[in-house]
Amino acid sequence: MPQQLEALRERHDVERQFHDEKAASAHNSDQRNFYSAGGVDSIWRAYWAALGDIQGKSVLDFGCGEGWSTLAYARNGAAVYSFDISSESVRNLIHDATRAGVASCIHPAVMAAEALGYPDEAFDLVLGVSILHHVDLDCVGAEIARVLKPGGRALFIEPLSHNWLLQLFRWLTPARRTPTEQPMSVEQIQQFGKHFGEARFQGHALLSTFSQGLLWATGSKWIFLKSLLVTEAIDQWLLRFLPFLQRYCWSAIIEVRK
Ligand SMILES: C[S@@+](CC[C@H](N)C(=O)[O-])C[C@H]1O[C@@H](n2cnc3c(N)ncnc32)[C@H](O)[C@@H]1O
Repeated sequence: MPQQLEALRERHDVERQFHDEKAASAHNSDQRNFYSAGGVDSIWRAYWAALGDIQGKSVLDFGCGEGWSTLAYARNGAAVYSFDISSESVRNLIHDATRAGVASCIHPAVMAAEALGYPDEAFDLVLGVSILHHVDLDCVGAEIARVLKPGGRALFIEPLSHNWLLQLFRWLTPARRTPTEQPMSVEQIQQFGKHFGEARFQGHALLSTFSQGLLWATGSKWIFLKSLLVTEAIDQWLLRFLPFLQRYCWSAIIEVRK
């Protein structure tokens, strides 16, 4: 493992520096930001439906960033272990958890995803949002399989790479992300799934990405949310009856079981 970590050092430095700087700067209040406008509400609802009741479960928030998901898991009664490679992000998490009164339910740490400092079979659930596409998937697949209890599950929300319009948007907006991250292909998801007994994924946001374009163009949350009602309804129908379209979605919920 030390040799593998050495090979990843440059990549880790890039990720650490980018996210430390982001966490140290003021929070983004741009009104064209579709995250704060509610653009990911439906995928977040689907994720929680797949998650079920986490009361009393031992949960690992994998690549927690500033930890908004850690706080949500703690508020829902889980014992949450959270880590990230960015110490500034973890510092913000500790600050927010203290203010929210859930600091006693969380166990934050700074570490790399490819070499976890947790014992074997420690967790009922490993959960991650926008993290697998930042890391070495093969190392991380083996590590997650190691720290999950037998029968334990891991769920992730990750961006997909097959939609050319989204790829064009990413190409036009490089400052939004690290040079080392890459949205995932369906083939990478399948490869990652080989570390586990069961694996599946579900695509989310196909036409509804156009609503995000509308928000970006107009800055109007009202137009965005109204158009989302239409595009999300069409998406539900399209993805149900034409499942091959899932690979062209913006993101996927990936679920594996040990
Ligand atoms: C897009 S952010 C997502 C953070 C968080 N899950 C969220 O939803 O806000 C990606 C995170 O991955 C972390 N990261 C990148 N490479 C990592 C690695 N090898 N090990 C641990 N964390 C890493 C970054 O520091 C960053 O916080």
